[in-house]
Amino acid sequence: MTVAIDLTGKSAIVTGSGRGIGRETALLLAKAGACLTIADVDEATAASTAAEIRALGAAATHVRVDITQPDDAKQMVQAALAAHGRLDILVNNAARWTTKLFKDMTPEDYDANIRVTLYGTLHASRAALDPMMESKYGRIINLISDAGRIGEPYLSIYAAAKGGVAAFTKALAKEVGRYNITVNGIAPGITLTPGSADFIQGAGGEEKLAKAYPLRRLAQPIDIANPILFLASDMSGYMTGQIFSVSGGYSTVG
Ligand SMILES: NC(=O)c1ccc[n+]([C@@H]2O[C@H](COP(=O)([O-])OP(=O)(O)OC[C@H]3O[C@@H](n4cnc5c(N)ncnc54)[C@H](O)[C@@H]3O)[C@@H](O)[C@H]2O)c1
Repeated sequence: MTVAIDLTGKSAIVTGSGRGIGRETALLLAKAGACLTIADVDEATAASTAAEIRALGAAATHVRVDITQPDDAKQMVQAALAAHGRLDILVNNAARWTTKLFKDMTPEDYDANIRVTLYGTLHASRAALDPMMESKYGRIINLISDAGRIGEPYLSIYAAAKGGVAAFTKALAKEVGRYNITVNGIAPGITLTPGSADFIQGAGGEEKLAKAYPLRRLAQPIDIANPILFLASDMSGYMTGQIFSVSGGYSTVG
């Protein structure tokens, strides 16, 4: 006898799923049986992830969305409903980060980081709540970061935005639990993605950084996608308002 995670019949949106952790998560949810809506500001990469999923034999549509815009977020949810008839899972993955000392950050840097990372999560969650509250079912998973839980130098504004997402996760969970909607957060450590490549290079490279991690390696995108799949499934149905560090033991704060 085996126990498997089965998302057959579920419909999921993953923001920022043209590449990196979002792409890996979308592929994994599709392999578990979900229908996917691939949402990214970069339409070419969104189309490419959707095509990869269809090549696996699963259903996927893609939509160009700038998640900083509330109307785009609404259209993204409409696209999921039009393509798949329902919406069960939202993964708020799109984010932006600027790596500089805080004294060198500009108000434009504040905006760029906070608008995608925090506002984007708010806009997508708001748009997704209507169909989820109506169907009395939902799984919202927010990508946070250890930077937003324990602080990291050079990432102050991003940390502020992610700290906001963490607090939002807990507050929203308390509001929507009565609709059978769970809201949880995953806080990755440094993960090998296109978005983190410059940061890793600038900080001395993968091998050097891995020494700070008890498991002595940086994460691959699948290391993050696996617990997202668990939170997207019915197996996590009695867990809400929680933030889980997925960082090879780097952060052990409760
Ligand atoms: N990679 C890491 O080391 C790391 C560590 C901790 C947390 N995280 C978090 O994991 C998530 C994914 O990170 P990643 O490294 O895969 O990122 P990435 O930069 O490789 O990919 C991010 C995706 O988001 C899209 N995006 C950016 N702005 C957008 C917008 N306005 N609207 C819609 N889409 C937009 C990009 O086009 C891109 O496809 C983020 O929330 C990030 O903060 C990553």
